[in-house]
Amino acid sequence: MIKSIRGTRDLLPPETELWNFIEGVTREVFRAYDFKEIRTPIFEETQLFSRSVGEETDIVTKEMYTWDDRGRAASDKAQSLTLRPENTAGVVRAYIEHKLWERPGVQKLYYIGPQFRRERPQKGRYRQFYQIGAEMIGPVAAGSESPARDAEILEMLATLLDRLGVEHWTLHLNSVGCADDRARYNDALRQALADVVDKMCPDCQRRTVTNPLRVLDCKVPEDQPIIAKLPRIADYLDEPCREHFARLRQILDGVGMRYEVNPRLVRGLDYYQRTTFEFTHGALGAQNAILGGGRYDGLSESIGGPQAPGIGFAIGEDRLVLTLMESAKMAPVLPDAYIAPLGTGMDVPAALLARELRRTGLVIALGDESFRLKKSFETAEKLGARAVVIVGENEVAAGEFAVKNLNTKQQVKIARADLGNHLRAAADGSGRPG
Ligand code: HAM
Repeated sequence: MIKSIRGTRDLLPPETELWNFIEGVTREVFRAYDFKEIRTPIFEETQLFSRSVGEETDIVTKEMYTWDDRGRAASDKAQSLTLRPENTAGVVRAYIEHKLWERPGVQKLYYIGPQFRRERPQKGRYRQFYQIGAEMIGPVAAGSESPARDAEILEMLATLLDRLGVEHWTLHLNSVGCADDRARYNDALRQALADVVDKMCPDCQRRTVTNPLRVLDCKVPEDQPIIAKLPRIADYLDEPCREHFARLRQILDGVGMRYEVNPRLVRGLDYYQRTTFEFTHGALGAQNAILGGGRYDGLSESIGGPQAPGIGFAIGEDRLVLTLMESAKMAPVLPDAYIAPLGTGMDVPAALLARELRRTGLVIALGDESFRLKKSFETAEKLGARAVVIVGENEVAAGEFAVKNLNTKQQVKIARADLGNHLRAAADGSGRPG
């Protein structure tokens, strides 16, 4: 038997109802904040990710699905392509490619779609997972650098989580400064680590050389007392970065957003500057980040574009579903009626009637003329249909159908023209034909 690949999953009904509910609410909330959808390809040139997410990050060094794609002619050079591990790089590439800065204001773009990382699968961590993300990017003159944008993004997230009914989330907030601040901070970290790194885990030993900032992310319990004593990035921010963070906090306080400043929040992607954040949720266990994001001023320039400060986030939709699985009370969608063709030659009139009713928005399950009436009723019950409509030769000739309500067990005759309203009224619970 051929099975799905490790780390990938089939999303089946009724769980897919929850996914659709989440995506529906998300689109509504994003609309109120004037975000528009963007869809970028699922694979891109490998160097888009290595140059933006960062050569030394875990994502680029060990988690990407990359292959050489040969051109059709033998002379064509092979191109290195990668399944997108995240979508910010693709959005910024599209911003540059389509000169979106020529459009008015800051671009406010959102996406919903699969991402791919070759991580070790566990609860809440998959190799194909789904993100709901949004980016605000534009020229400085349009206000893209303002902490008001950071606050707007964070407030939108709080509104979305509240609307979805996600409770007890925590917003962790930090500023990682600009490139110069980080260079000075990295030096300070390297110095502080020099004497202690041989007591730390192998990953930390490697990171101390390649990317000391990532040491702060270490989860090994024995390393924590050492990490707690390391210098803090807040002490290395230059004046404009300090001011930016202070203004962001002022707005968040003003609109009553709860947050915790977490000086260790550095995130696993290299493009961040200044604001970084994560929302966590207790119900998720080890993989407790429902979403993460931050500011990426400088990313556009690093992949050949104009200056275009930006900020965004991505929600792990799989994790959002996990947190809502218990609390959300999703009513399953059940057929409003089961149409039972009775006798040879009745498949066609039954199909016609089903088509008529479905076009009015009713949910219709359609039977088969080879079924006896008893089997039709049993099938309708199993599917959870509210009613059975019998389509026999006499009914078709008279233009009137026997409708049995499977809750009340009452059977009535209804004229074809009234059938839709009758079924709708039954579905609404009034029980009376409309
Ligand atoms: P990220 O922190 O790498 O950021 O991913 C964002 C979220 O995606 C995580 O918080 C988590 O919920 C989810 N996620 C990540 N990896 C997995 C996985 N293997 N399985 C399930 N869920 C996962 C980004 O991707 C940035 N592009 C976010 C961003 C947008 N920053 C600025 N704009």
